[in-house]
Amino acid sequence: MTITHLELRKKFIQFFEEHQHKLVSSASLLPKDDPSVLLTSAGMQQFKPYFVGAKDPMKDFGSINLVNIQKCFRTADIDTIGDDTHLTFFEMLGHFSFGGYFKKEALELGWEFLTSPSWLGIDKSRIYASYYNGDRKGTMPDNESKAILETLDGLVKIVPQGAKDNFWGPTGNEGPCGPNAEFYIDGVEAWNAVFNEFYCNQDGSLTPLSTKGVDMGSGFERVLVAVNSLNNLFETDIFTLLMDKLGSLPAHSQRIVADHIRGVVFLLADHVLPSNKEEGYILRRILRRVLLHIQGRGVLLEDLIDTVIDIFKSVYPDLVKEQKFIKQIAREEADKFSRTIDAGEKELDKILTTGVTSVSGTEAFKLFASYGLPIDFIKEKVNVDEEEFEKEFSHHQEVSRAGVENKFGGHGLAAGAVVSEEDKAKITRLHTATHLLHEALRKFLGDQVHQGGSDINPERARFDFSFPRKLTPEEIKQIEDEVNQLIQAGFVVDKQTLPFNQAVMTGALAFFKEKYPDMVDVYTITSNDGKVISRELCGGPHIKFSSELGHFRIIKEESSSSGVRRIKAVLE
Ligand code: SER
Repeated sequence: MTITHLELRKKFIQFFEEHQHKLVSSASLLPKDDPSVLLTSAGMQQFKPYFVGAKDPMKDFGSINLVNIQKCFRTADIDTIGDDTHLTFFEMLGHFSFGGYFKKEALELGWEFLTSPSWLGIDKSRIYASYYNGDRKGTMPDNESKAILETLDGLVKIVPQGAKDNFWGPTGNEGPCGPNAEFYIDGVEAWNAVFNEFYCNQDGSLTPLSTKGVDMGSGFERVLVAVNSLNNLFETDIFTLLMDKLGSLPAHSQRIVADHIRGVVFLLADHVLPSNKEEGYILRRILRRVLLHIQGRGVLLEDLIDTVIDIFKSVYPDLVKEQKFIKQIAREEADKFSRTIDAGEKELDKILTTGVTSVSGTEAFKLFASYGLPIDFIKEKVNVDEEEFEKEFSHHQEVSRAGVENKFGGHGLAAGAVVSEEDKAKITRLHTATHLLHEALRKFLGDQVHQGGSDINPERARFDFSFPRKLTPEEIKQIEDEVNQLIQAGFVVDKQTLPFNQAVMTGALAFFKEKYPDMVDVYTITSNDGKVISRELCGGPHIKFSSELGHFRIIKEESSSSGVRRIKAVLE
């Protein structure tokens, strides 16, 4: 049986309406009155005030049980796009209760909807469930959910999991939270029922909520994959028309463009404008990535936008109203972007006026590395020795990785070891935090602080630096506070690839004993009010936004060797 995206929407809403839920329409991607997040990233976000008792659902909706399908955007997943199960822009199926039903009803409803032949009829043997094991301080294992899951007919596998997976907290720093139980279909998390019984405070402590609530979120596209037994999100009918337009692109580019262009359209429809800050920067980044991937492939930006709107217009009629605006802003931004790569084009033209009909891979790589000229762009104008280009490209990556390894003593990623996506994300976050720590140390202890080795694993960052004595508890606190203040005030991380001399001229911190490659990456961390916080020569990878970091804590300060101190720190 095939279920279209329209049918799935209908079924989900109908099922919960039949069970006394009131339908609420999707909120904007730009959250109103919620400074803790840049963009709406979960269906529950618009309902936060109801979970904490600040607003009355009866008064506003005439019901304490609600159902919705919410537009969401998750920046945390940008780097995973291209795999089978992640999207930046996606929709979330949600059902909620504010003091109505709780664990038993929520889990039973979920199981019925997913497996009953009258609803989705997913084979029970494809599903397993998880519940919370109680490993977070101040909480207990969720044995109640476990017992309920054990009563579900045909559910054979139930696993306990830690807070990382099964204690859902706010994406910002504070808000309603609690243990959650999940259904995984074919090993992919597809249904997440959160039982909000606490308020999570800024410092991580928990206050019990006076009314317990249910917040179930389920990835709409993932369910569409599961119910139709497809291989990945891009095979679902909500992507078909779009994928059809992208046939001329390499497979990986197709997925990136298909994901990002949806985000572009929906962000613009909610009047996010491209900029260098916050959500505007997110939009700019994904739009530019679309442009780079479609460059020279005979795919038109406007055509992609129209296609997304065609797919979604019956669900989100506002898209049609905004169509002209969306295309206009996207076009302006595309033109602006092409001006920024203009300089590179001029360089290329200089080469071309000499009458050459082909350029070497090395030359092409220089244009790419210094000006950001996409290879496809160069190829349109002149023949390129692509094999040599690829060689240069991977050589550059190896050399800059080697540079990082020397400098940082290696972190799992640079060393090229195989790591899970999750560990990669943790290492990346700690890596950015390390740059902030470096700045904070220099600020409070003076420029005599020079970085020695550093080592980062998913658990913690270790950072050695020159300094003659033990730090006082006050100094440690000051440094910790400074890092957290930088995180909270907000920043973006930007990467530029520059010739070494030029990079040093930008004032980037470098390690002059090192031998650097000709082209180096410079990572600049800029606060939201435009101040440069840190600039270092570095091989990356780094996060993009401060909101991804969390809370920074120094867990140890000790001597490493004579005149060298060692700090170990974590993000929580
Ligand atoms: N808030 C939970 C999530 O985003 C469930 O809706 O997964």
